[in-house]
Amino acid sequence: MTSVAVIGASGYIGSELLRLLVNHPKIDEIIPVSRSLAGKKVSSHLTYLRGFLDAEFREMDLENLDADFLYVAAPPGEWINSMQSVLERGIKVVSMGGKFRIKNPEIDSKTYPGFDNPELLDKAVYGLPELYREEIKKASFIANPGCYTTSIILALAPLSRHKKSLDLGRIVVSSVSGSSGAGAKPSRFLHHPEMSSNLRPYRVLEHRHTPEMEHILSREFDSDLSISFTPSIGNHCRGILSYVNLFSNGEIDLGKLFGDFYSEEFFVRILSSAGENVPNLKDVINTNFCDIGVNFDRGRGRILLLSATDNLIKGGSGTAVQNMNLMLGLDERLGLKQVAVSP
Ligand SMILES: NC(=O)c1ccc[n+]([C@@H]2O[C@H](COP(=O)([O-])OP(=O)(O)OC[C@H]3O[C@@H](n4cnc5c(N)ncnc54)[C@H](OP(=O)(O)O)[C@@H]3O)[C@@H](O)[C@H]2O)c1
Repeated sequence: MTSVAVIGASGYIGSELLRLLVNHPKIDEIIPVSRSLAGKKVSSHLTYLRGFLDAEFREMDLENLDADFLYVAAPPGEWINSMQSVLERGIKVVSMGGKFRIKNPEIDSKTYPGFDNPELLDKAVYGLPELYREEIKKASFIANPGCYTTSIILALAPLSRHKKSLDLGRIVVSSVSGSSGAGAKPSRFLHHPEMSSNLRPYRVLEHRHTPEMEHILSREFDSDLSISFTPSIGNHCRGILSYVNLFSNGEIDLGKLFGDFYSEEFFVRILSSAGENVPNLKDVINTNFCDIGVNFDRGRGRILLLSATDNLIKGGSGTAVQNMNLMLGLDERLGLKQVAVSP
């Protein structure tokens, strides 16, 4: 019997975790935790779970939590102070937030101020299975990657094999995300009249995912690199499309490079970008896939990588379930084989 608790189950990532877990063949019990909805039926708030989850939201009581696995789908908070006792009781944890993703105490503290915890930072394994599968299998505490970073790191990682021919100081990335990326809390910025028919850049020079992607990719490339990143929020609910541009002083067979790099990866699909074979949101929404289109403009030496994911699944809860499967010794695809809807 495997039981899984979800802190932040009232939010978008937490509720998406519930939606994936109710169909997971190896999970027997789900414990949804919400401070604001404790005592209420899950299906009275998340109405689409009617008939699938007949539980009530519970208070957060980590000292007495009895579960095998815990997801924290909440920003940094008091829960961090209970992590040592949770881990000592053998409960494995995946944290969905940005804190503990960057294994450098100064950058971690500057990017996500408050609730610093050097021991936890030391324990944390960056949970991107396509790159760190073996470390994840042995981990007890995972820092799940960010949504933008997942699409961008997966697009750039194979190029580490050609780093000598690349201008790593000028990698330029723009991404467009659906509004669910900003979470469930209402704000003027996300109010329907402000967002509908709109495309809005935000945090244009200072998004918190920039240090994360630079840190992880510097490790992959074994070299410093600089990413100029501009995010925008679009007039759609889910899905990230990232446009990754960089320059090479020699031709690279990108189709072969990327095809070889991801040949064993079920959740990464490499596309030529020719004709209909272009990454787009509709093909990945409600799935755990990352579709990457590879393009080389010979005249300019320009590499253009197009990377599409569902921010709530491959960019969040789907990768988190992949990590849980690995940590529990299961097939990492369990509970994650959804195909996109069409039309
Ligand atoms: N949205 C995305 O696309 C996405 C993708 C990847 C990662 N993430 C990360 O995943 C986490 C959750 O994001 P989200 O979009 O689901 O946010 P959200 O919709 O705002 O939900 C967060 C939930 O966490 C609970 N919460 C807030 N502060 C808390 C605290 N101090 N302690 C315990 N619970 C607290 C709240 O529920 P109660 O008040 O009911 O307890 C809230 O519903 C964030 O760290 C975010 O950065 C988000």
